[in-house]
Amino acid sequence: MRGRLIIMRHGQSEWTLPQVNRFAGWVDVPLSEQGRRQAERAGQLIKEYGLEPEVVFTSLLGRSIITANLLLDQIDRLWIPVQRTWRLNERHYGAFQGQTRPDMLSKYGEKRFATYRRSYDVAPPALDPSSPYWQGQDPRYGKPWADGLDDLDPASIASESLKDLGQRLEPYWRARIVPLLAQGRTVLVVTHGSVVRSVVKGLEAVSDQDIRSINVPTGVPMVYEFETDQSREPEPVGSGRYLDPDAARKGMAQVEALGKA
Ligand code: 3PG
Repeated sequence: MRGRLIIMRHGQSEWTLPQVNRFAGWVDVPLSEQGRRQAERAGQLIKEYGLEPEVVFTSLLGRSIITANLLLDQIDRLWIPVQRTWRLNERHYGAFQGQTRPDMLSKYGEKRFATYRRSYDVAPPALDPSSPYWQGQDPRYGKPWADGLDDLDPASIASESLKDLGQRLEPYWRARIVPLLAQGRTVLVVTHGSVVRSVVKGLEAVSDQDIRSINVPTGVPMVYEFETDQSREPEPVGSGRYLDPDAARKGMAQVEALGKA
């Protein structure tokens, strides 16, 4: 039996427009018009490949939720069950949230900027709770029990490394997504760049060093097939496959370019 994971980053947001180029993290930034079109295109790609998602997971951020809805509307599957969790949120970018990449590049220099942006275990400087980009009072983070795992209070998070993100994602992933893959289900996860990087790192045993060079395009679905016989954890068969490799390559280059002077 084969479980399938369709995982993707949301469509382009207003802050990933090159002329804006701000770090979003947990700031609830809307999709751009191009991002909405990417979400629709992702739905058409999923249909062309004959994939039929049976359940969808999103973060608590609008760009992930609306991307999922636009995609599912394209394939007449808005009705499938949905689960939302802060654990699929983008990495909390700390004091970088709301700042432009060029400003952070000039403030910290190329080496430290690249480390804050793409390293495995170094988090950006913490965000001050007085910042307008602090999530503390946001009602969506007020219920640590919302996803049945209460080991962390999201309202208190002030910055995350990719490693931190993996540690808050893993219990949820094992409890809610792995069992569906083990049943041979087709699971759609519409999330954020750093979450995709964390999942790829785990599924493909990418080293802490090599993960630095992985960028994730906006709005292009990637598919993993899983071998499962219910007696053991589902194993990925090969690496992830972008459904539109050209768009993925272009998108990765655009992500990398955002970080250049
Ligand atoms: C953000 O949070 O701004 C982006 O989703 C990720 O930004 P990055 O590609 O610079 O890490």
